[in-house]
Amino acid sequence: MDDADIFETAPRTPGALRSVRAASGAVEIAYEHGRVRAEAVGPGIVRVRLAETGFAPERSWDVLQPARPPADAVASEVDGGAVLEQGGLRLTLQGDEAAMAIEGADGARWLTSAGPPRWGRARLDRLDLPHREGDALPPGVDGVLLRQAWTLDPRDRLWGFGQRTGGLDRRGRALTNWTSDSFGIGHHRGTDNLYQAQPLFLAVQPGRAFGAFLHVSHFSRFDAGARHPDRLGIDALGGELDLFLFAGPTPAAVVEQLTRLTGRPLLPPAWALGFHQSRWGYASADEVVALVDGFRERGLPLDAVHLDIDYMRGFRSFTWDPERFPDPRGLAERVHERGARLVAIIDPGVKDEPGAGYPAADELVTRGYALRNPDGSPFRGYVWPDRALFPDFARADVRAWWGDRHRASLVEIGIDGVWNDMNEPTVFDRPFATGAARNRPFPLGLRHGGDEEPASHLEVRNLYATLEGRATYEGWERHAPGVRPWVLTRSAFPGSQRTCATWMGDNNSWWEHLAMSVPQLLSMGLSGSPHAGADIGGFFENARPELFARWMELGAFYPFMRDHTAQGTRAQEPWAFGDEVEAVARQALTLRYRLLPYLVTLTHEAAFDGAPLMRPMGYAFPDVEETFDVEDAFMLGPWLLAAPALEPHCRWRRVVLPPGRWCDYWSGRPVGDAGAHGARAVIVEATPGRPPLLLRQGALLPSGNARPSTAKPLSELRIVATPPETDSAYEVVEDDGWSTAWQRGGVARTALRSRRDGDRLTVTIGARRGAFRPAPRRLVLEVRLGGPPERVEMGGEGVDVRWDPDRRAAEVAWQDDGTERAVTVWGGRTP
Ligand code: GLC
Repeated sequence: MDDADIFETAPRTPGALRSVRAASGAVEIAYEHGRVRAEAVGPGIVRVRLAETGFAPERSWDVLQPARPPADAVASEVDGGAVLEQGGLRLTLQGDEAAMAIEGADGARWLTSAGPPRWGRARLDRLDLPHREGDALPPGVDGVLLRQAWTLDPRDRLWGFGQRTGGLDRRGRALTNWTSDSFGIGHHRGTDNLYQAQPLFLAVQPGRAFGAFLHVSHFSRFDAGARHPDRLGIDALGGELDLFLFAGPTPAAVVEQLTRLTGRPLLPPAWALGFHQSRWGYASADEVVALVDGFRERGLPLDAVHLDIDYMRGFRSFTWDPERFPDPRGLAERVHERGARLVAIIDPGVKDEPGAGYPAADELVTRGYALRNPDGSPFRGYVWPDRALFPDFARADVRAWWGDRHRASLVEIGIDGVWNDMNEPTVFDRPFATGAARNRPFPLGLRHGGDEEPASHLEVRNLYATLEGRATYEGWERHAPGVRPWVLTRSAFPGSQRTCATWMGDNNSWWEHLAMSVPQLLSMGLSGSPHAGADIGGFFENARPELFARWMELGAFYPFMRDHTAQGTRAQEPWAFGDEVEAVARQALTLRYRLLPYLVTLTHEAAFDGAPLMRPMGYAFPDVEETFDVEDAFMLGPWLLAAPALEPHCRWRRVVLPPGRWCDYWSGRPVGDAGAHGARAVIVEATPGRPPLLLRQGALLPSGNARPSTAKPLSELRIVATPPETDSAYEVVEDDGWSTAWQRGGVARTALRSRRDGDRLTVTIGARRGAFRPAPRRLVLEVRLGGPPERVEMGGEGVDVRWDPDRRAAEVAWQDDGTERAVTVWGGRTP
């Protein structure tokens, strides 16, 4: 949109340069009208702020983690400007109008300002910002729009941008950052924004990646090359450009830098990595217990059941329906006895009925904790419990109160996790009972932050769910000390990954949505929020058997694996579609549970440096351009390439093989060799129950025995190895699965190494390190070979080996005593 359309009057620009200060790793420049401050805030992270007058105040609720400014940043004055250099990133500000260039260490241009930044009051009717009739932008800086355009490198793909529809590369789209419910509509490929707002991106090309996070919680928009293919436009309310730049130089490095700044992803408890079953409509405690029994009777693994709003008394958060769920404690016990866990939904809309014996409402009102209208009266809106009030999560006292509300009604009852929904936040225009209720925007001038730190809805909306998640997580930490909390959220902003897992909201039982979940979850991982899943089977509408079966296969690789569906849809449990589908679901669940030791290891990697579990191929192979646009396959950690069936009647499919040799996980057969550098497409079989899953050359993949749930310890740790070109290494990380002891050394680390020398392959399983001691179990080394080995030795002596021709696997097993073992295999050819 042109300036003339979006600003009320002609916008202001910074004008002539007035003064430059470059000292102690920071640059400050004053213009006639506006100022810039740039500083290195961490290795590989530079912050650039540009404002018209003062910079925005620091907020107590900010998502930024404490910074450790690097000692080696160099700020210097140059003729008519300044340069800031740190960690391979170079920012030059020179001349008038805040002209900026951001370059890599090699002088390659990343972003160059294309014209001056502009400020002015925005025209609400032109902003694409949902609002109520008659509403206006509040006065002051909240209504000031900052616009800045940048020149993009034509070769860059633009990844990240958080939760979106569409493909991995979002170049060519306009993208709004404004948390929105997409209830009932059924979002599609072209939908702009969904429930979450992650104003950040990665710019990638072979051999190079950098990233940027717009640290602005106000409504903002990126034009990622929609109007002009080589321009990036940033529009932000609040009047400030606050941009964090990440030096990369790989996608993995950018994700590390981003999560260093906004927080590392949580470490989920073991049960959260298992299978979750849910539906809106499990209407009684007995039905829930019967559901768990249904899994146990059929020998299908299950770790968690989700209780949707049906468990509450009239949709009141923190209550239980006295008739249908008369004994919540007893219910939790029955579910726990069966080796499963319970997750309960909590909505932020608190029924507006003070004085009616509902403590949450009483306290919200008497303590003045609710969000307020501009005139100071509490804001009310319709949601499940009809007229509701909304806690002001920007206040620390409200967060503490909210966290405490979980104690008696959930924590002490034995509930294991919380599911935060409707927290964009969402309201409707009328009570549901009257029919045809529609989403209604919140008033833009709504007051958050209480009297102490007043802020408008424009500033806080995008953070609302993240602050609710924090309140819940911290409440859980206080009331169940030492236990890892588990919170699932629908809405989010960067920083949410520290406390919450997330799902992609109300999808549909469509093949399109099955396929879309791949780039969606890959983007979540790139955006620093790897613990994500999409509703398996689809939420709205009825899943057809084949769709459900294929979705279970793909879901086995989701970091968060949940089957969920809406009220009124047909049954969607794994057995609801007949024996054939149940058999496929069983295969998928068995694979999921076998892979749990790998998934646990990957969650530790994520908690350490942000590395996603599901990785785009271009993340894993950042020099190989042919892998960059693959969005129908992905890497699960470093060793597995998953190429799910995403279309009906799929029996074969094309897979782009990244460099190296690959073999089929199921049969051990070679799939192809893409050579050392390039990629190569192959056609692979996609039989239901055995979706294409490839093992990388040099794999050292931890896995285990299948179990009914993670309540049972592993009886076998199995390392699946494929011969490397020369060497390979990995480390298995294990922990107790439930406590916070992992933060204090309560882990078990086992280094794995493999080395190939002619026809001799040695795999070494190192001595276990760390304070965690796994339960007694077998250790199995499974080497995938072209044929049976000639000889196998362990510690210099011949050992028995089992050859499984169906999987082309040579297996050596021993009782795991935590000591180092080296196994050498002669012959057998590489697969
Ligand atoms: C929302 C949620 C959905 C849930 C429903 C009822 O639509 O996204 O998952 O089942 O509300 O609580």
